[in-house]
Parts: sequence; structure tokens; C-alpha cells
Amino acid sequence: MHVVITGGLGFIGSRIGARLLKDGHRVSVLDNSATSVVAGLPGAELHKVNLMDPASSGGLKLDKADVMMHLAGPSSGMASAKDPVGTISAGYQITYNALELASRIGVTRFLHASSMVVYGNVAHNPVREDLPCVPISQYGIGKFANERLVDTFCSARDMGFVNFRMFNVYGPGQNLARTDQGLVSIFTAQLLKSPKIVSKGSLERFRDIVHIDDVVSAWTLAATRGGARGPLNLGCGESITFRELIQTVADELGIKDKLDVQQAEGTPGDQFGICADISALKAATGFSPKMRPPEGVRDFARWAKQSVAVASK
Ligand SMILES: NC(=O)c1ccc[n+]([C@@H]2O[C@H](COP(=O)([O-])OP(=O)(O)OC[C@H]3O[C@@H](n4cnc5c(N)ncnc54)[C@H](O)[C@@H]3O)[C@@H](O)[C@H]2O)c1
Repeated sequence: MHVVITGGLGFIGSRIGARLLKDGHRVSVLDNSATSVVAGLPGAELHKVNLMDPASSGGLKLDKADVMMHLAGPSSGMASAKDPVGTISAGYQITYNALELASRIGVTRFLHASSMVVYGNVAHNPVREDLPCVPISQYGIGKFANERLVDTFCSARDMGFVNFRMFNVYGPGQNLARTDQGLVSIFTAQLLKSPKIVSKGSLERFRDIVHIDDVVSAWTLAATRGGARGPLNLGCGESITFRELIQTVADELGIKDKLDVQQAEGTPGDQFGICADISALKAATGFSPKMRPPEGVRDFARWAKQSVAVASK
């Protein structure tokens, strides 16, 4: 199978790419390194391209491909709040150009990195895909617009598609220096510096957090099993409160006794609590998450501690 991955140098895209290469597939990566975590993917063809520019993406010479995995684009809710028009239009333009390219190279399945932010605040958890989407943040409005674009474009061409509504993804390899994205990594990076940290908003807020290994598994299953179509929640199916998350990381880092969490005013557009119903994903692909909180969080905190120790040597 030939798979094109946009954003294939980013946290999630690079891990999916590595897995596909290991499984013997051909991988082409399109990325402009705006927020990448790796410089290249050994064994993959790398095309340095700004997908925002239709001339650059339109001029790309790519062989026929079976699947496009579209992960490139602005990936920070905070950046979207600061520059809504810029980030939303960039995400839409990049998605449109990726779709045009997918159609030109004969792709039959388009997998898109959407987010649980499309739901907004939900009355019932766990949330199912048939619940109305009422995004309350600029990031969510942008993601929902992209979902509609993917659905309309692919349906008109009879191209298979999945809008993966990913919950909070975390895991080894995440950029600990990044403070604008990554719930688990942001708190872990703060706690590695000091046991005194600030939480913007209630500690009773909760999230479904999904380990990168499970995310990789879901994307590869959806690429190889034709049945998946439409929006699909991608979480672990369990939630953790911000309080539990912070305490678990602190415990693993050996600083639980010194922990001092200050609560600050919440961020506008932040959802209170959300957890994924993953039965549709399970039925469509046979997905079965392996890593759940708190074990996954402990695993991540151990990796983070080690990688900071190695970096400071
Ligand atoms: N990490 C999460 O928890 C999460 C959750 C839900 C959805 N998502 C979505 O998944 C996707 C990947 O997330 P990630 O965490 O790997 O983010 P990331 O920032 O690590 O990866 C995004 C990649 O896209 C590339 N890119 C950005 N603009 C580009 C452009 N104009 N042309 C070409 N390449 C460009 C970046 O260089 C980067 O390598 C994003 O669309 C994000 O919104 C992420």
C-alpha cells in the first residue's frame, strides 16, 4: 500500500509513518516542518512543501497512492484563540489542497485528523458521534469546518473517508518544550521543573486521554480495513480528572508530597468534561485500546523524566 501522510514529521504523523514502514508499506511524507518533532522518517520519501500554497501542493510530483492520512495544519487551540481567522483559514486551505491532491493521485481513502473539540460542552458522557457538534472554541469551529469539507468533497467523488475525532493524545516522543498543545505533556513538563504549578480552570474537569500507540493502531486499522467511514471518536474510552492526572504525574516523579497546585481562571472555549464512546471505532476496525490512565500517564512521566535527564547531560 502507498500511503501519503501530510504532517508526517509531526508527533502523531511520524509515529504512524514509522509503523506503516515497519509493516512494509510505502510512505510519502508532506511537511513544511512548522511544528515537526523529527527532521525525517528513515525509509519514507520526504517532500518539503507548504500545503497552504495551492501552487506548491498542485505542482507536487507524487505516484498514485491508496490512502492519504491528513494531519498537517495548525494543531494548537491556544494559537487558534489568538489568531482565529489566520489559523482557521490556514487549516481549511491546507485541508482543501490536501483533498485536491488526494483526488489527483487516485487516493481511495482519506483519513483526517479532527478533534473532540468539535463537540463543545456535552450534556451526556461518553459522547457518541451522532451527538450534534456545537464547538465552543475557535479551534473547534475550524476543525468542524474541515470535517464538513472532507465529508462533502469525498462524498461527491465516492472517496472513502474518516474524520477521526481524536481526544487528548499523549505519549513518548511528544515535544515537552511545547506549551501551546498537549494536556499531559504540558503538566508533565511543568512538574519536571517545579512541584508548584498552575491549572487554568477547575481541577474537576476531565478528559479522555489516548496513548500514541493506540492512536497509531487505530489509524493503521482504518487504512487497511475498508469499513470505516464518517466521523469516528478516537479515545481510550475512559476519562481522568485534571486533579488525578496531576497527582499521578507528581507521584511518578516522586514529588507528590511537595505538590502545590494553584487554580487560575479558566480559558475561554475550554470544555468542562468529555469522554469518548468508542464503540463505533471498535465495530468498524476491531480497535482495542491497550493503554489507559493511570498506567499510560505513569509510562509517559517515566519517559519524560528520562528524556529530560538525557538532554541535560
Ligand atoms: N495531539 C493531539 O492531542 C491532537 C488531538 C486531536 C487532533 N489533533 C490533530 O492531529 C494533527 C496532528 O497533531 P500533532 O499533535 O501531531 O501536531 P504536530 O504539530 O506535531 O504535527 C503537525 C504537522 O503538520 C505540519 N504542518 C503544519 N502546517 C503545515 C503546512 N502548511 N504544510 C505542511 N505541513 C504543515 C507540521 O510541521 C507538523 O509536522 C493536527 O491536525 C491536530 O490538530 C491532535
